[in-house]
Amino acid sequence: MAPLTLRRLRDNPHVRDLVRDVRLAPGQFLQPLFAVEGLAGREPVPGLRDVWRDTPDSLARQVEADLAAGISRFLLFAVPRAKHARDFHYGFGADVVAGLRRRFGADVWLAVDVCLCSHTTHGHCGVLDDDLSHVLNDASVAELARQAAAWAAAGADCVAPSDMMDGRIGTIRQALDAAGHGRTVLMSYAAKFHSGFYGPFRVAADSAPTAGLKDRATYQLDPARRDEALLAARRDAAEGADILMVKPGLPYLDVLAGLTRELPQPFAVYQTSGEQAALELLAREGLADGARVQRETWTAFARAGARIIISYAARRATALLAGAPE
Ligand code: PBG
Ligand code: ZN
Repeated sequence: MAPLTLRRLRDNPHVRDLVRDVRLAPGQFLQPLFAVEGLAGREPVPGLRDVWRDTPDSLARQVEADLAAGISRFLLFAVPRAKHARDFHYGFGADVVAGLRRRFGADVWLAVDVCLCSHTTHGHCGVLDDDLSHVLNDASVAELARQAAAWAAAGADCVAPSDMMDGRIGTIRQALDAAGHGRTVLMSYAAKFHSGFYGPFRVAADSAPTAGLKDRATYQLDPARRDEALLAARRDAAEGADILMVKPGLPYLDVLAGLTRELPQPFAVYQTSGEQAALELLAREGLADGARVQRETWTAFARAGARIIISYAARRATALLAGAPE
């Protein structure tokens, strides 16, 4: 008997394609968007190609162009000009969401990030106590529920809490249901780690911590713990999250693979701004084929069990995937 040779199924593009168990489609991507109050015009986000801090008008034009190119699923971040320590205002974000909904109707599927870091004077994701040394969990959760209800009332299809407070999923679900938003999807940033791969985002969302706690280590997950990710994902599922997320992507691929095996909820993965900038830097330096490494990371996410991929390059997904077979 001839020895087994795995090379037979790699012999040519036809057979390689036939036997693949992972396939990517443009429909599984979410494109992040930033709406920033008070800008004179759109600004590029440092390190990221084709990603902008938009005004409400430039954002609407961008979404129109995206729709024409077949991109219809988005994750929006609203960045108000005025910052507060408490008693936040959600009018700017609500107007942006309502404006997109009025203009594009059901042609777009719009998820909206729920957090306080773009709204706070200190840049943290929750309300802090008076000496800014601790996050006040329950006061934060109450605010987040108010924000989520504001986005839902404005027409969000999905709200996505990224704050990492305890118990926010259950409270937000209750608040949505009580306000008549039972159809609004809840996507939890369930396993969001305290990561160094968020750099360009914090410029885009004006959300770097600037006072009080020096970083987000007390509320985001510890990179050195897998059990915590499992506990957080199970808890958020039990509290009513429809979709669970792992973030960042590549450095936490083991977590993604483990959680998708463990839990029946659909998973999203967030390829963060720092991860994206790293890929683009490699390509700019001529050290990698940008399209190829982009596809390779996305394939890894799908292989690890992600259904939804949040990527800053989502609006180029069709072109990048069309270049596929290696
Ligand atoms: C903040 C938030 C972050 C991201 C989404 N919402 C980063 C952070 O914790 O500062 C990550 C986005 C990215 O880096 O692409 N709640
Ligand atoms: Zn935040």
